Amino acid sequence: MADYPTNHNSLPNIPAELVAAIQNARAITILTGAGVSAESGIPTFRDSLTGMWAKYDPMELATPEAFAREPARVTQWYDERRCNVAQCQPNPGHFALAELEEYCTESQKSFTLITQNVDRLHQRAGSHRVIEIHGSLWEWRCTRTGDQREYLEYPFEHYPPKSKAGGLLRPAVVWFGEALPEHEMMMATDAATSCDLFFTIGTSAEVYPAAGLIDVARQRKIRSRTAHTCEINQDPTRHSDRVDWAIHGKSGEVLPALIDRVLER
Ligand code: OAD
Repeated sequence: MADYPTNHNSLPNIPAELVAAIQNARAITILTGAGVSAESGIPTFRDSLTGMWAKYDPMELATPEAFAREPARVTQWYDERRCNVAQCQPNPGHFALAELEEYCTESQKSFTLITQNVDRLHQRAGSHRVIEIHGSLWEWRCTRTGDQREYLEYPFEHYPPKSKAGGLLRPAVVWFGEALPEHEMMMATDAATSCDLFFTIGTSAEVYPAAGLIDVARQRKIRSRTAHTCEINQDPTRHSDRVDWAIHGKSGEVLPALIDRVLER
């Protein structure tokens, strides 16, 4: 593993081998997390001062039991996050990933963006093929009928909000103790298994099964010498010393520099 800390007073240090690996890859898979949206003003979860879980107890807000106990409090908290996200804009990191997808499509490379983020900022930046493995703040599900649809108007008028069928609405996000959506997880696992370049970007990669995708990609690397892994994250993670390239810096700075190098401009 090579560690590439970026110098914040200059351009991020992008290894030439990584640029070549992108240019030569047949299939690229990316797993993003909250860090990618941090520069858009959306708090991460585990950053010790600013992270969401430093302020709130996830067991009181992000579990089915919490919703059963206090549906108004839980839905209001998620709706406030939805309102906050609506005021935020995608940052240069999101746009660079959309550009990478476009480059891959034009170069006939397979490209898959898997995100743990529920904010839809990747899509707003122009990414098309996004697998949301933790759901979305914009989708809500009726707990009576199971029907799920987009709710784009915000905020809700009262809490807990109800569907037309009269059932309580819950956000269609994955809570602690719940299974990830089967279809999305299958597609994500396929993409991690079959790619020759796997990135984790802006994620502590502490939460399974999403973090297990790194192990899936590493298995592929063990089998094929041409497969590579790369981490782009503000801080080192416990996976940093197991990837081919660990670049430590802000994704909103590193990713635009990386795409510039790939596109040779
Ligand atoms: P975390 O908060 O665990 O990790 C965010 C990572 O982003 C940290 O390692 C930071 O160092 C890094 N970071 C912060 N700012 C950054 C920046 N500008 N550029 C690059 N990296 C930056 O968030 P996730 O890994 O996304 O799940 O958390 C995974 C899941 O845990 C979430 O989807 C959520 C949470 O509990 C549920 O709610 C079920």
